[in-house]
Amino acid sequence: MTIDEDKISDISPFEKFDSANKIVIDKSDKIILPGLIDTHVHLSQWRIRGSYKSDLLEWLATYTFPEEERFFNLEYARIVTKEFFSNLIAAGTTTATIYVTVSQKATNIAFEQASKLNYRALIGKVCMDRNCPPALLEKTDTSFEQSVELCQQWDNVANLNYVFTPRFAPVCSSALMSKIGNYAQAHNKYIQTHLSENRNEVALVKELFPQASSYTDVYRQCQILGSKTIMGHAIHLTDNEINMLIETDTKLAHCPDSNLFLKSGRFLYKKLVDKGLIVGLGSDVAGGTCLDMFYHMKMANYTQTDGSVGVHEAFYLATLGGAATLSKADEIGSITAGKKADFLVVNLDNRDGVEEMLSELIFVKGKEAIEEVYCGGEKLK
Ligand code: GUN
Ligand code: FE
Repeated sequence: MTIDEDKISDISPFEKFDSANKIVIDKSDKIILPGLIDTHVHLSQWRIRGSYKSDLLEWLATYTFPEEERFFNLEYARIVTKEFFSNLIAAGTTTATIYVTVSQKATNIAFEQASKLNYRALIGKVCMDRNCPPALLEKTDTSFEQSVELCQQWDNVANLNYVFTPRFAPVCSSALMSKIGNYAQAHNKYIQTHLSENRNEVALVKELFPQASSYTDVYRQCQILGSKTIMGHAIHLTDNEINMLIETDTKLAHCPDSNLFLKSGRFLYKKLVDKGLIVGLGSDVAGGTCLDMFYHMKMANYTQTDGSVGVHEAFYLATLGGAATLSKADEIGSITAGKKADFLVVNLDNRDGVEEMLSELIFVKGKEAIEEVYCGGEKLK
């Protein structure tokens, strides 16, 4: 592999490699893999991993919202942000799609840290203008305006994108979601949110939005659906809703560990992928318990008892599948000439074949196999 600035410029067999005028680093006894992609993760929940409740809404009220309030303390936000990014890097994640909190300043700190590290990330300020604790509650206009400010400040700066982040329909008014949806569609910006994760959540949305035919329809009416929208979870969907997602080319972040931890339900992987939906993998920390995407590949395998997620599919979900989910498949997700030099140097015992190596990574070694991490040609670990 030849790297020129931040990109892979050539892939050629070792014997044919022309080393003239190049700095040569010999890793021929190691395995090179594309950097891993986490399509759904909450920075502000790093410190509450493993805080357990068997229901999403109870978990949010008990652990998550109180922790997110702590991010108004910017010293605390800085400490956790540093910790979070160093752990992402240690896990071999070279692109992450991140929810911060409602705090504009804490979101700015996340961007500053990612920028300082030259890290590749999509980052968003969480928006909530109803049904949440008073300390986190925002005014509709302020929530939207602060998001636009952050977008103007950071979107497409270095390796960064802004992602509009209305948390989920139960905590957002139609007015807020429509402002975000209209702006994002008009300016071709990313949006991320949660969809149909938990049965009590689905019932609550039905009660809060009686004019909509379904949870997905709430988002459709507010212009939230689209090819640059990433929906977390998407578990309890009707065929009608699946069709809406297909028609709008909305992308899905599958979060299997979180779905098991919070007892949310089972993602219909085969059905959704067979229908043509594009799916990536999300750790969903702290609904998920860790940042290790190899572990989440294992969970993607374990949750599909029909065997539809084998080791190749699982690996795809956190590499090229993740890149497609983020509309970045021409830029990242594989070791290909012309793409960004985001890659891992990995040490494996088993060299029998690709299937066997992937199995060792996914089922046994996980992130412990990672020795070095490069993002845009720069060594981060
Ligand atoms: N739905 C709304 N907010 C959240 C969150 O923080 N985590 C998860 N897993 N689901 C959510
Ligand atoms: Fe989430």
